[in-house]
Amino acid sequence: MFDILPRTRLAFLPTPLHPMRNLGKELGLDNLWIKRDDMTGPGFGGNKTRKLEFVIGDAKQQGCDTLVTVGALQSNHCRQTAAAAAAAGMRCVLLLGGEEPDEYTGNLLLDAIYGAEIKFFPNEGFLPLNDRLASVVTTLEELGLKPYAVPAGAATPIGSLAYAAAIQELKQQLDRAAFSPERIIVATSTGGTLAGMIAGQHMMGLDAEILGLNVYDSADAATSRVRDLLQRMMREYPSLVEKFKPAILIDDRFIGEGYAVMGDPERKAIEMFARLEGVLLDPVYTGKAGVGLIQMAMSGEIPSDSPTLFWHTGGQPALFAYSQELHQRTAVGGSTDAKRKQTSEAGEVTDGF
Ligand SMILES: Cc1ncc(COP(=O)(O)O)c(C=O)c1O
Repeated sequence: MFDILPRTRLAFLPTPLHPMRNLGKELGLDNLWIKRDDMTGPGFGGNKTRKLEFVIGDAKQQGCDTLVTVGALQSNHCRQTAAAAAAAGMRCVLLLGGEEPDEYTGNLLLDAIYGAEIKFFPNEGFLPLNDRLASVVTTLEELGLKPYAVPAGAATPIGSLAYAAAIQELKQQLDRAAFSPERIIVATSTGGTLAGMIAGQHMMGLDAEILGLNVYDSADAATSRVRDLLQRMMREYPSLVEKFKPAILIDDRFIGEGYAVMGDPERKAIEMFARLEGVLLDPVYTGKAGVGLIQMAMSGEIPSDSPTLFWHTGGQPALFAYSQELHQRTAVGGSTDAKRKQTSEAGEVTDGF
């Protein structure tokens, strides 16, 4: 079905799908599973690697030799683009919102190791940096390069289609595992992942509610980004995505103190997944989606007998950029005590949520 799209194979697919029995038990959910798109590899994986297979396929088809993209200082998308460009034999130019730090860590350190050329834009948020892409492309063309602009998060119709393909992959896994989730929970920001999933849900007839937990701004703003992407997918790829009226479900209740701000709820969610399942969430995206899952399960908003799938979208290298918040707070009162509370006293784990 997706064979009509240009594609450069990069990801290790299918990503694992497995139950989370310990966390499910702690949250009172009978049937909780996880889809591990943190394991797409290369470059520590994450959701952007799927998108980049199609984006780089398109870039190569157009004869391009350089990827130019934008993101925050700790952008997972930029790190995965730098890794994918290296694997595909392309150059990579990154425009990052923020001041160059004295010390490179997390994703930024990996960007440098992958050989990306980095330009910093102090005081700029990552989505507005999209407006700078055109002029950088012109400059690179003047230098004799053949650049391909990748907007923030690879949130383009062709990039998003990768997540329609991911739903096809999931559907095959669900059939084999005899698991039918009523609800899929996924972190959203630029909206490409969610838009692709909604298209895929329609294309494959997947009977599950897909709930995007927005970590970036308001639910309204995110909904209009997703709607716009879906309309462009229908317009530009009518043979794949027939016209339909999408139901877009986005919740912004779990954004906490704001984009990329990690507070107590996120830290506790990260610790819960790590200590009960050995699964690492990230501080910016899946940490907040994890808070959403935990709060909705504990409040009864997700009924205990409702099969639920948490879609992991990666981002763990950013953990190292948040070591102060993660370590110092964990150390207060003794980490062993904290662990015992997490695993044995159901009442305690609600603290901070
Ligand atoms: C780890 C992680 N999860 C989720 C997202 C959100 O994906 P999207 O931009 O497709 O909405 C991102 C985006 O950068 C991310 O890095």
